[in-house]
Amino acid sequence: MTKRIAIIGAGPSGLAVLRAFENARRKGADIPELTCFEKQDDWGGLWKYSWRTGLDHYGEPVHGSMYRYLWSNGPKECLEFADYSFEEHFGRPIPSYPPRAVLHDYIMGRVAKSDVRKYVRFETPVRWVAYDEASGLFTVRVKDLKADRDHSETFDHVIVASGHFSTPNVPYFEGLESFPGRVMHAHDFRSADEFAGKDMLMIGSSYSAEDIGTQCFKYGARSVTFSYRSKPLGFDWPEGFEEKPLLRKLVGKTAFFADGTSRKVDAIVLCTGYQHNFPFLPDELRLKTNNRLYPLNLYKGVAWQPNPKLFYIGMQDQYYTFNMFDAQAWYARDMILGRIAMPDADTRQADILDWRRREEAIENPFQGIDFQTGYVRDLLSATDYPFLDVDAVAALFKEWEHDKEHSILGYRDKSYRSVLTGNMAPVHHTKWMEAMDDSLAAFLAVPDAA
Ligand SMILES: Cc1cc2nc3c(=O)[nH]c(=O)nc-3n(C[C@H](O)[C@H](O)[C@H](O)COP(=O)(O)OP(=O)(O)OC[C@H]3O[C@@H](n4cnc5c(N)ncnc54)[C@H](O)[C@@H]3O)c2cc1C
Ligand SMILES: NC(=O)c1ccc[n+]([C@@H]2O[C@H](COP(=O)([O-])OP(=O)(O)OC[C@H]3O[C@@H](n4cnc5c(N)ncnc54)[C@H](OP(=O)(O)O)[C@@H]3O)[C@@H](O)[C@H]2O)c1
Repeated sequence: MTKRIAIIGAGPSGLAVLRAFENARRKGADIPELTCFEKQDDWGGLWKYSWRTGLDHYGEPVHGSMYRYLWSNGPKECLEFADYSFEEHFGRPIPSYPPRAVLHDYIMGRVAKSDVRKYVRFETPVRWVAYDEASGLFTVRVKDLKADRDHSETFDHVIVASGHFSTPNVPYFEGLESFPGRVMHAHDFRSADEFAGKDMLMIGSSYSAEDIGTQCFKYGARSVTFSYRSKPLGFDWPEGFEEKPLLRKLVGKTAFFADGTSRKVDAIVLCTGYQHNFPFLPDELRLKTNNRLYPLNLYKGVAWQPNPKLFYIGMQDQYYTFNMFDAQAWYARDMILGRIAMPDADTRQADILDWRRREEAIENPFQGIDFQTGYVRDLLSATDYPFLDVDAVAALFKEWEHDKEHSILGYRDKSYRSVLTGNMAPVHHTKWMEAMDDSLAAFLAVPDAA
């Protein structure tokens, strides 16, 4: 009998899985029956921008964490799909740091060509997954939101691709409840416009703090203060920015920091990361981890240990994104199709611990890039995913790190060479700090030569 596979989520990771199986089918393989459950009304995951925050029109938690004016924070050359270049999609080379709408268009362009939409059931959140030892099957209970009806189906495999940058991690700081200004988590941030003229406080020292802080400054915030727990962002910040150790308390609008200093702020954005949250999974199937490069219990970063009929895609902290999700999807597909043998539990565990030991030895971002490059290479070497020169991608990531160190407000004006086409990206017509219109049309506009 044909196997049945449930895929949870139609963001970049879930779409990679659909593409992986479709690719095998086109090459003549018998593939399992695929059903992808997606709670939103369209695909794209985080890249499908939503103006909503809190709950959606069905009362479901809003998935989106992306905001207006978001531009890629890494070169597009590092995330290019090996089987679909930016140049193929846009018909010409484009600059290296596209805004969200342009990346969304690119991701959608590839799936639109592959006839996989028929597998997706939209507005259908997965509510619960249970595994039955006796039958060896998973029962998946979903809610059809449009019909307002729950129902269950059985599957041989479940692939969790529901993302992990959606459920906010929200710490408490003394005085927040009486702070007379706006307080929000990065998950709910949508537009920098409202912060023009304000003194902003960002809690956290990772990508969200850096990007939301610089974006607010670009759109007119008077000052941006970053408050870190472990270590500062450490850039050579221009006037208007400063870094402080962790916030101790707020008294009215005054923020007091661990070094005894204080300053007045008008608004606070908690850029304190996200939780891996799978409310539809029981304990024995649920990945429990913080945001890191090698979570435990995932053989080759994808197969659930101890029940490798369950898979997870895209659960790692991410230097690599779209092409890593592809590498994982191709690998998981081949384990399901029996093209890659599933080793016994002890061998899987030893492999997981070996990767984890290497991850724990990482001391800086450059070693982190090398680690994830090695991981992606390991997966790619076992499947028929088109050749991707990951060493060349790693070199670009390292160049990007240096470019950021050189100019945190100017690194997006840089260009890089595609590892697929060998072509250099053109310089964008407008510097990022001056490019206020982030629409696809504005980004792709060819400036008048006259
Ligand atoms: C603010 C922000 C900016 C980012 N910017 C970049 C960037 O510039 N470049 C880059 O490469 N990466 C970026 N990322 C990283 C991002 O994680 C990936 O690009 C990518 O979106 C991850 O894809 P995913 O499919 O794993 O998860 P998601 O994109 O989160 O998609 C998961 C999907 O699962 C669905 N889902 C969740 N729960 C259920 C359920 N119970 N039932 C059914 N469906 C469900 C969701 O609706 C969603 O469609 C950014 C992340 C954030 C938060
Ligand atoms: N433009 C873009 O492309 C863009 C923009 C934003 C985000 N992103 C992506 O979004 C993803 C998530 O990034 P993120 O920055 O939201 O999460 P993250 O990388 O997981 O970082 C979380 C930050 O929150 C801090 N933190 C956690 N709990 C805290 C607490 N109780 N008190 C103080 N600080 C606390 C952490 O500090 P410690 O270091 O002490 O743990 C860390 O600095 C990344 O993949 C990133 O690339 C992309």
